[in-house]
Amino acid sequence: DKDIEISTMLVDWYKENQRDLPWRQTTDPYKIWISEIILQQTRVVQGLDYYYRFIDRFPTVDALAAASEEEVLKYWQGLGYYSRARNLHASAQYIMLHCGGIFPSSYETILSLKGIGEYTAAAIASFAWNMPYPVVDGNVYRVFSRLFALDTPIDTGKGKKEFYELANMLINPSNASMHNQAVMDFGALVCTPQAPSCTSCPFQHKCLAFAGGNVLDYPVKQHK
Ligand code: ADE
Repeated sequence: DKDIEISTMLVDWYKENQRDLPWRQTTDPYKIWISEIILQQTRVVQGLDYYYRFIDRFPTVDALAAASEEEVLKYWQGLGYYSRARNLHASAQYIMLHCGGIFPSSYETILSLKGIGEYTAAAIASFAWNMPYPVVDGNVYRVFSRLFALDTPIDTGKGKKEFYELANMLINPSNASMHNQAVMDFGALVCTPQAPSCTSCPFQHKCLAFAGGNVLDYPVKQHK
């Protein structure tokens, strides 16, 4: 069943506390794609400069596809995990050839692009078109395992399935974009791994891990 109370609380928190990030000022799926690929293995603070320079030089799918791989890699220099840049370039050329140069708006097609997994496809689909796909990442595991005191280890198939289903139940389908961004910022700013700010947390009275006094035991992992 859909229960939007938690989503509403998260989004209310987000409206007051969100980080001001450039990829949130756009619904252009191309720019959101670039930002999410950069942020896959890079911290926000380090990623910002790369994002600005990359978008400035390659502002569209077309511009990225037309560049040489060598030049694209030059703009990635220092970020590491260079297959990310190669996949971006190859996918831009694929979009030019097979999607008429328009970034695809079907979740399945987005997911089929090189370098895009379920997390990134959900981020693009929700941020660009408000499609109700939940992002399921470390923030989601941490925030929701604490809130509901869920003990299923997150590094198991059972855990992944349970958290996906929970995330899917908790997302407000009419506000998917803000919901997903809200979870990211809440996990990054309040419900953090080592030193969560429980005293200023809007969920303190609802949080089962807080009630049990063992917030730091979550999320549970089978292999530590
Ligand atoms: N990490 C991954 N995607 C992000 C986003 N859109 N905003 C902030 N941090 C992120």
